[in-house]
Amino acid sequence: MTGARLPQGLLSVHALPADHHDGPWDHILVPDGIKERLLSQALLRLRHGRALRNLPGMPHGLMVLAGPPGTGKTTLARGLAQTAARALAPAGATTYIEIDPHAFPSEMLGQSQRNITTLFTDTLPEFAARRPHTVVLIDEVEAFAVRRSAASFGSNPVDVHRATDAVLAGIDLLAGSHPRTVVLATTNFPEAVDEAFLSRADLVLNLDLPDEATIAAILRRTLAELAGMWEGVRPLVCDDGLHRKLAVRCAGWDGRRIRKLVLAALAQRREVALDPNLLEAADLLTAAEAG
Ligand SMILES: Nc1ncnc2c1ncn2[C@@H]1O[C@H](COP(=O)(O)OP(=O)(O)O)[C@@H](O)[C@H]1O
Ligand SMILES: [Mg+2]
Repeated sequence: MTGARLPQGLLSVHALPADHHDGPWDHILVPDGIKERLLSQALLRLRHGRALRNLPGMPHGLMVLAGPPGTGKTTLARGLAQTAARALAPAGATTYIEIDPHAFPSEMLGQSQRNITTLFTDTLPEFAARRPHTVVLIDEVEAFAVRRSAASFGSNPVDVHRATDAVLAGIDLLAGSHPRTVVLATTNFPEAVDEAFLSRADLVLNLDLPDEATIAAILRRTLAELAGMWEGVRPLVCDDGLHRKLAVRCAGWDGRRIRKLVLAALAQRREVALDPNLLEAADLLTAAEAG
């Protein structure tokens, strides 16, 4: 479900698992252990949230993915919802909800605070009651839970405070009333996110820029995807020496930019653009040189 029929502040609502949501989880290549850690944290909460609620220092079901833009945070969060939903399917379906953090601009005076309160006290609990498990994504949360100690930006600081307070109160409320709910938040700027929000997280995971081995793996994967459409690209998929050389040139690039390099390589020469089977190592090296 997307669009105008949704309550205020929601971008989309889906029932998972659903076959067309497969993909994002495998699409993102990260160092060993990161996906396992993320998935395990989500499964623990979704499966045993009710029991864990009795522990002191109650888990909030909040997980934060932090890192520079283009490192796969949004894609991984979407993939996590589907992968967790698949694992939990024998115990029932999962509702996956994406929040629009830009739906609550702080210039809207007290209105933002009221809307956020409605979101957490009415809208989300209502959806969370529909299926056994619920995953909520708040993408780019820095727009939403602004660090109160740093909030100025020309907006009324009192309103920023109130809106952030409303988010924190809302997360506490949702965690208590619907313990089989996970709230995933992503941020490009963790230093702009309120400290009290971060401290509620059961897990804050930093996605760094890819290291050399990961860059090579992303290039190999992207070339393999191309070879699925144009068989002539196949020899480049196995050229480990080429991937290593390119990885050195792409040091410091994010994952999005690395994938785009392959696209740029296809557009270095007109004959390759017309027939990608003609792609050569030199095209990739030229594209990497050009940045
Ligand atoms: N680690 C990665 N492995 C493979 N592809 C990546 C990686 N990081 C980014 N990408 C590519 O960049 C795209 C955008 O990533 P996105 O999830 O929007 O990043 P972010 O939310 O961190 O800005 C992804 O869909 C993917 O194609
Ligand atoms: Mg993103």
